[in-house]
Amino acid sequence: MIDTITIDELKIGMYVVDLTCSNSDFTVKTQGKVKSQKTIDQLKKQGVTKLVVEYTPEEFPDAKQKEDDSAETPEKTDATENQEPLVNQHKNTKSVDDEFSRSCNLYDSAGGDVKNILSSGASSQRLSITAIKELANGITESVLRNEYAMAILTRIRHPSTYQWEHVLNSGVLMCGFSLYLGFPKETLKQITLGAMLHDIGVAKVPRGIVDKPGKFTKNDMDVMKKHVAWGQMICKEDEMTDKIILDMVLNHHERLDGSGYPRGLGEEKLSKLARMIAIVDVYDAMTADRTYKKGDQPINVLRYLMANNKKFDRGLVQQFIKYLGIHPVGSLVKLSDEKLAIVVQGNRNEPVKPKVKIFYNLKHQRYITAKECDLTKFEIKILASVRPEDYDINMPKIIRQIIG
Ligand SMILES: [Fe+2]
Repeated sequence: MIDTITIDELKIGMYVVDLTCSNSDFTVKTQGKVKSQKTIDQLKKQGVTKLVVEYTPEEFPDAKQKEDDSAETPEKTDATENQEPLVNQHKNTKSVDDEFSRSCNLYDSAGGDVKNILSSGASSQRLSITAIKELANGITESVLRNEYAMAILTRIRHPSTYQWEHVLNSGVLMCGFSLYLGFPKETLKQITLGAMLHDIGVAKVPRGIVDKPGKFTKNDMDVMKKHVAWGQMICKEDEMTDKIILDMVLNHHERLDGSGYPRGLGEEKLSKLARMIAIVDVYDAMTADRTYKKGDQPINVLRYLMANNKKFDRGLVQQFIKYLGIHPVGSLVKLSDEKLAIVVQGNRNEPVKPKVKIFYNLKHQRYITAKECDLTKFEIKILASVRPEDYDINMPKIIRQIIG
């Protein structure tokens, strides 16, 4: 399992994935197992205070107890919330390769539909969200066939199409996250739809504000905040009054400490779904490339969510990290044998060893015939997630070429 611990909880035998907090500029160059007390002492000396580690509960039963306690969330009243988590019980019925071309077709056609809906909002005409309902059904069915195929596409970002990518990605990620947490399958289509609609009110915000580079003024922010109420209005106009959907639309900017908007609700009022969509919304927004800034690497955003545990549910953030993996599918990674690869399938038992598709030889600086590699079966390791622009890799093109 993956966990965040303090340096005092680090034990010999744990596998260090990353540092989350350091008082110095020291960074982990390569991931690895802690082999001696000397390593722990060195990390302490360097000012490291918190780390992300991987370990098996059998080897470290005390650490497991601590993790289980922290994952508890307050009691909920929602119909979707009282079931026992069935984490990782779902079995994909199709392989990534089998599902991928169908996912691409759905993603491409959905892009056009969602774009039309979002742009019609700017022209004061009434928005029809029936098309999004059909897309939500299609996404849910795809995720149920194979949870990774559509998730790979969420890592392809275009600065000019952020808004509709955010709609689709929120649906895909929320559907996969809910499936991972064991939500009943019959609620998944509504959850996916709610996630896709959570920001629908943004369609009513003037483009000059939505696309504004840099910081918002107080006035911009006041207008932007209205997207929550506008979203609720749009849903009601289209008779989308399902509790699951309205919960996500209304509460995705609320925070556990009451610092969110529009109502400043505290943790006792926030459902599990509201907490989940808050995490998914921020994760997708911060990892996205925008016209005015590059997106953050997933690991940095997950670190941010963990660090802000007064605002985001720590237990759910930990589950979200487990759902996504340390290197989420669709990530470009550098391997220890001087090759580049794309992560195509997660490994929840050993998150640092997912399945990848190798396609580029760094030593010879040339593309090679794509080859799938299950990292549990080879000595090759992932050294780091890397940025496509650092290696001049056209991710949308490569992903579609080598998968499926
Ligand atoms: Fe929002």
